[in-house]
Amino acid sequence: MEVKKIFLPESELPRQWYNIQADMPTPLEPPLHPGTGQPAGPDDLAPIFPMPLIEQEVSQERWIDIPEEILEKYLIWRPTPLYRAYNLEKYLDTPAKIYFKNEGVSPAGSHKPNTAIAQAYYNKISGTKKICTETGAGQWGSALAFCCSLFGLECKVYMVKISFQQKPYRRMMMETWGANCVASPSNETKAGQSILAKNPDSPGSLGIAISEAVEAAVASEENKYSLGSVLNHVMLHQTVNGLECQKQLAIAGDYPDVVIGCAGGGSNFAGNCLPFVRDKIHGKDIDIIGVEPASCPTMTRGPFAYDFGDTVQMTPLLAMHTLGHSFVPEPIHAGGLRYHGMAPIISQLVMDNLIRPVAIQQMETFQAGITFARTEGFISAPETNHAVAITIREALKAKEEGKEKVILMNWSGHGLVDMAAYEAFLHGKLADHELEEEAIQQALEEIAPLPKPRQYTG
Ligand SMILES: Cc1ncc(COP(=O)(O)O)c(C=O)c1O
Repeated sequence: MEVKKIFLPESELPRQWYNIQADMPTPLEPPLHPGTGQPAGPDDLAPIFPMPLIEQEVSQERWIDIPEEILEKYLIWRPTPLYRAYNLEKYLDTPAKIYFKNEGVSPAGSHKPNTAIAQAYYNKISGTKKICTETGAGQWGSALAFCCSLFGLECKVYMVKISFQQKPYRRMMMETWGANCVASPSNETKAGQSILAKNPDSPGSLGIAISEAVEAAVASEENKYSLGSVLNHVMLHQTVNGLECQKQLAIAGDYPDVVIGCAGGGSNFAGNCLPFVRDKIHGKDIDIIGVEPASCPTMTRGPFAYDFGDTVQMTPLLAMHTLGHSFVPEPIHAGGLRYHGMAPIISQLVMDNLIRPVAIQQMETFQAGITFARTEGFISAPETNHAVAITIREALKAKEEGKEKVILMNWSGHGLVDMAAYEAFLHGKLADHELEEEAIQQALEEIAPLPKPRQYTG
């Protein structure tokens, strides 16, 4: 019998995170203060984040030790298994070997606790009492709620309204772990009130929810804000995944030709691919593909520019691929991929041609999810289906080319709380959506007066 799952013993759990900033060919541009437009220093970030996370944000150290308290909590679900997708390979009749890393085995059902544990820990040791955050589909909010409960912290979550309505079970999970979750835009913050005054039916967006969470965090010194993606320290924490994958693939005696992940703010993709990007920088030939929705095509159609991380312009300016901070994407079911920006690290690696972005329509992603469920059994999150769909495309391409490629896909989460989306697909209620160039241009006009990074592409 062939080996289906490659497990790592707990003793092989990585003890350090990998910081790609030490190896990037083009260093990151600094974040800029939202008011002055000058580089933001640690003091500017101190009202929102605890100092250990600010230090990690700017660290140039290649390896950063994972504290023992975090390792202990990681053991609840890590190391996660790496699967060989034999059934999918057979169904596609492809010579490609398909591996997928199952990050859906965490208590919250996705990769998000990899950083939520670390952020809750560093907040706890820095004296924070309450963490405020936003969530799209609810994966991040539930992950942070779970991790705050482990460290005895209060947790407040602003959940994008469209997802709040579509995914009530995520809210219930947050409440089970003791968090308080409200629909965003809410009437609880000035940011929320100003959006509702202009558009009482706003479906919300991650940009708006971030504005609300930041405002709530700075309201008290005991509160801090937490972001589940985009920032450098989040990418760093997620690398525990890719480092495990490297050990697991070595056990299987394989090395990937193609690495694939879906990208909303970029964190699950980064976590899986950055150790391989390091190898690519050092000469390995790997196609590293970040997959985004065609209705929120940040990397494929947004310029590399400085922009705010939120809608109401409270966060520092980040140099990233962006569709403009006021861009509100279609309410597609992959709520976690509806963010107007992309992690500065991923954006810079796209600029340096180390990562290849691809955009894909919703219908193909759900069809891929169905194929995956009917071959490998697991029901993927709608976000994850973006990676599944491109994996299938790449496996079929390998068949056409007659090449035995090794494909590694990051399976970022399960979709068991997203069944309403599957129902809509199975009953013909979903459609593709072609994004008008005008909608992008309108949102981009707002960022035209902002400072420009060296490699500005607007
Ligand atoms: C299962 C899953 N995958 C992917 C994402 C996208 O986020 P990121 O790009 O930060 O991994 C999300 C976000 O909510 C998610 O829940």
